[in-house]
This record gives sequence, C-alpha cells and structure tokens, in this order.
Amino acid sequence: MPGHKRLMDFPNPYSVDITEIEGFDNLHHAEGIISRSQERAARLYGSVRAYYLINGSTCGILAAVSAAVPRGSSVLIARNCHKAVYHAIYLRELKADYIYPEYMESGIQGKIDPAQIESRLDENPSVKAVVITSPTYDGVVSDVAEIADAAHRHDAVLIVDEAHGAHFGFHPVFPENATRLGADAVIMSVHKTLPSFTQTALLHLCSERISTKEVEKFLRIYESSSPSYILMAGIERSLEMIEEDGKQLFENYVGNLKQFREKTAKLKHLRLIGQKNSKACDFDIGKILIETGGSMSGHELQQILRERYHLELEMAGVNYATAMTSIMDTKEGFDRLADALCEIDEKIIETGFNFTPRDIYGSMTKKMEIFEAEESNHTVVPLEKSEGRVCACYISLYPPGIPIIVPGEEIEAENIYNIQKCKKLGYEVDGVGKNIEVVK
Ligand SMILES: Cc1ncc(COP(=O)(O)O)c(C=O)c1O
Repeated sequence: MPGHKRLMDFPNPYSVDITEIEGFDNLHHAEGIISRSQERAARLYGSVRAYYLINGSTCGILAAVSAAVPRGSSVLIARNCHKAVYHAIYLRELKADYIYPEYMESGIQGKIDPAQIESRLDENPSVKAVVITSPTYDGVVSDVAEIADAAHRHDAVLIVDEAHGAHFGFHPVFPENATRLGADAVIMSVHKTLPSFTQTALLHLCSERISTKEVEKFLRIYESSSPSYILMAGIERSLEMIEEDGKQLFENYVGNLKQFREKTAKLKHLRLIGQKNSKACDFDIGKILIETGGSMSGHELQQILRERYHLELEMAGVNYATAMTSIMDTKEGFDRLADALCEIDEKIIETGFNFTPRDIYGSMTKKMEIFEAEESNHTVVPLEKSEGRVCACYISLYPPGIPIIVPGEEIEAENIYNIQKCKKLGYEVDGVGKNIEVVK
C-alpha cells in the first residue's frame, strides 16, 4: 500500500488544495460536483449511495456501525474485525457478541461460517447488526450473500468491512464486490488496492435498511470539517481510471499475477497460500501470501527480502509474509519478487519453525463489555503476572490491527506466552510493554 505505488500522474497538489468555495460543493452537504462524483462511485459499484471518505475506512466503519443500531444495542461481530469496529462499539456502548473465523491449514484465519451466524442470531434475537471483514487483510473472502440472507431473515443489517476489496468486481478472477451481494453497508479503502492517496475510502449504502440521515450525521461527527480536495481528487482520479481503462488495466494485472504464480509454482519450501478451499469461500489472488513452511518466521523472510533484494513487503505474519499488489505494479516488480523467492527457496534449511496465527488469536472469555472495561478504574501489572486479570486495553500486532485481546477480556497464560514469543521474534505488539493495563 498505497495502491498507486507512487506511479500516478497528478497535478501540483497545491494547485488543487482548495476549500468549499463557490462552485466546489461541500462533502458534508454534497449537491454539486462532489455529489456527481459520489453518484458515479455508486454506479460503478452498484450501490444505492456512495460517500467519499477522507479519514479512511476507519471513519466509514465508525459511521456505519453508529448509524445502524441505537446506542447500547447488541451487535454480532466477527472477532477478527479491525480495531475500528471495536472503537465504534466503545463509542456507542454496544454489547458485542463475537463469532470466530475458521482456520485454514496454515493457521491463517479463514472465512466466517454463515451457519454459525444463523444460529447465533437465533439464540440472540436482540442483535440488529452483523459486522464482518471480507476480504480479510490476508485476502480471505466469506460468503457475503449467505451471511446477508441470514442477517436479513433475523431483521438485522449486514455491514461489510471491505477495506481490502475496492478492486473486487472489476475482473472475473477477483471475487464479486460485497456491494452487489446483499450487504447493507460496505466500506472500502480506495488507497489500499486502487491507485489513490492514503486515507481515501468509500462508504456504500446498498439498501434502505440503514438511515442515510444517521450515516450523514455520524460522518459529520467522525470526519474532518475541512475535507481535503487533494484526497477527494485522488478518489475521483482512480475511479475515472477504472471506468475508462479498467478493463485493460485489470487484464494486464491478472496476466502479471498468473505469470508470477507460474514462476513460483516450483517453490519447494516456501508456499503461496491462496486457493479457494472449505475454509475460504474465495481468495483475492492480488494478495501474495508467502508461507515460510517451517523454515523461519514471516519477519525473517520480510527482512531478507528488504535487505538482500530491496523488496518491501506489506507485512509479516508469524509464519508468512504478504506482498500487496495492484493494477499499478509492473511486470518487472513481479519478476523481481518471483526470482528472489526462488533464490531464497533454494537455500532454505528447515528449522521446524512452528508458530501460526491460530496460536495467537485464540478464543477469549469476555468478562465485561468494552466500554465498561475502558471506563472502569485501571491499574498496571507486569505482563507475566497478568493471568486471570481483565484487560483494559487493546493488544494487537500491527499490521493487521486485529486485536488479540480487547478491553473486558480475561488474560490467559497462553496469551502471555504468545505475546512474549512474538516480541522475541521481533514483532511489534501494540498496547503492551513489560507491563499491561488491567481493570483494577
Ligand atoms: C480490515 C481493515 N479494516 C479497516 C482498516 C482501516 O482502513 P483505513 O486505513 O482506510 O482507515 C484497515 C486498515 O488497515 C483494515 O486492514
């Protein structure tokens, strides 16, 4: 990220950095040029209404969750959601019921099972909103249509965090966009997988089930009152590009991805994850997940690629590393990565490294709601003595920003062991140093 890969032409930013002067509309009450641009975005994705966002998917998620249900209500959320979803839950004092993803064989978090959503909604009819992430940071797609049906049968809305899926629906190799699959609100970061500036995103409403008045109210609260015209122009520019040249750009991109997969098919130790299987309803092949196959940590692989090959990956998971690609990546870039992986693979010695996300993102016990834990009195204890305490903060690896522990959950011995192990392996664990904040 960002998906423009620093290869876009753009006017001098100062020349387009204006404010809401006559003729240039106002993002918070769009009626002119911004409104027309947003209508184009809705047409392109097949939604009922689209909003340009200049505070990232983060503010779209905050606004959609806040608008979907009244303060204090119950929501069902995938436990592998991004921290923005938890922040919305905190701000609106929501009661959160969690559903855990399935796990793929490599220990990577897989899809959310629609049957489980159905049965949890049967058990808890007060839930009026379901939130899932599809695709995940790892490119795993859930069955949005089935989940939307289950939610609607229970009179609940479905909000899809599609931050990593703004490119979905533009080529048959990529999954269909959640905007066309029955979700009620879909939030996508244009900056992640399309060629736009960091912080740009779209919020789509795809039905009348969530009030536009409420969404707009919350966008006014969560989003800057001085929206950047540079960022908005970036969204406009990338959507225009998709509309006008998308077919060709995606054909080239998919050609490069296919060639890359052919070139790396002979890897013996490293393994590219990314086939559809029973634990992933679909998969974004634009995400190149390189599993280290028992040889080293993802962090070590990331370092080798950076230091020896000058290739910067998106992130390192515990047993894999991820390269994020877009229509802007060049054939030369794909070839360099494929050659580097083949060379590294030749020299790999198996070490029996065996640590996966499944070890880290275990099932947690909720003792309090997030807002109750955040607003109670806190104290600080050494991490190694925190077993059994109720966590008062978020603990996560960043990226991907999925909390390992959220406020209100009980810290287990396994969490302490795994956090310490991550730190020893060189991963940054947000929210915890030698000490950890707990409920007093
Ligand atoms: C799954 C997911 N959702 C939401 C976000 C937030 O997106 P943004 O950075 O556009 O605010 C991220 C950011 O990495 C993410 O990975």
